[in-house]
Amino acid sequence: MLIKKPADIRPSEITSESNYLKRRDFMRAGAIAGGSLFASGAMGAVIPDGRLAKLASIAKSSFSTTETPNSFEDISTYNNFYEFGMRKVDPFENSQEFKPRPWTIEVAGHAEKTGRYDFDDFMKPFDLEERIYRMRCVEAWSMVIPWVGVPLADVVKHFKPTSKARYVAFETLNDPEQMPGLHGRSLKWPYREGLTIAEATNPLAILAVGIYGNVIPNQNGAPIRLVTPWKYGFKGIKSIVKINFTATRPKTSWNMAAPREYGFYANVNPKVNHPRWSQARERRIGAGIFAGKHETLMFNGYGEHVAHLYKDLNLRRNF
Ligand code: MTE
Repeated sequence: MLIKKPADIRPSEITSESNYLKRRDFMRAGAIAGGSLFASGAMGAVIPDGRLAKLASIAKSSFSTTETPNSFEDISTYNNFYEFGMRKVDPFENSQEFKPRPWTIEVAGHAEKTGRYDFDDFMKPFDLEERIYRMRCVEAWSMVIPWVGVPLADVVKHFKPTSKARYVAFETLNDPEQMPGLHGRSLKWPYREGLTIAEATNPLAILAVGIYGNVIPNQNGAPIRLVTPWKYGFKGIKSIVKINFTATRPKTSWNMAAPREYGFYANVNPKVNHPRWSQARERRIGAGIFAGKHETLMFNGYGEHVAHLYKDLNLRRNF
């Protein structure tokens, strides 16, 4: 990222809880849309008093960590979402008018089922699970986030990719009217990401639609974003509008912007440093700005589930 070194993050970039609660009073994000995703009584992404709607029927998962999750305030005010600006507070401050409904997701490419789907229709076949995951940003900070989402493997299987499909490519909405950061040239828009089919069908990968049991806030990628906890956070593309099954490796935003710094795989790897800083350690957000760093784990600690995907790959070259 065009990133500051972790030590450069000023305390003023982190919103205090009282400030956050004041701002929450005028959160009015989503348009009303009924759907089975929501707990009874809630009609849409945002209930009338401005709070985020509760999601219904969420199963627990053995993939969840028992580490203490970060506060909702940490998770929703310290963000990277360059479409809304480059400072950590920008996504929170600039995305409250963003409309995650109505929302259409296009499924394209080498699959038996393709087409344009309304978000609620897209979600209907899948069951929600809570996945409490560590997230390690390439900038050397980390959080623990209680996502609610659906296994990406279920989504991939549902659309029946053909034998030609070797990758899944994702794109974010590209709407300069709603996303002020798109007027800048920090990246080539739309934001793009991709996974191999084997990665996309690994049981850890999810498409997240919620946090802490409620609908996902705009700044975290409403209405739907990718979460791959063994990879650096930038793989977790937000506000997805297109899923494309491709035969060749898709171009990805940070790799296009700085190919020597950000690879396609982006697996968390404490032994392969970023050209400008070490990846050996990380700072846990919320532990206090001056809290000591702790060691970063290979594959962010998820090696038992994913290491086999890369056994024939030179991870220094394929970073
Ligand atoms: N997706 C889009 N569309 N635009 C972005 O700028 N930033 C990425 C990723 N997804 C980004 C994005 C980066 S660098 C990180 S670390 C995570 O989102 C941050 O997710 P969070 O803000 O929910 O913690």
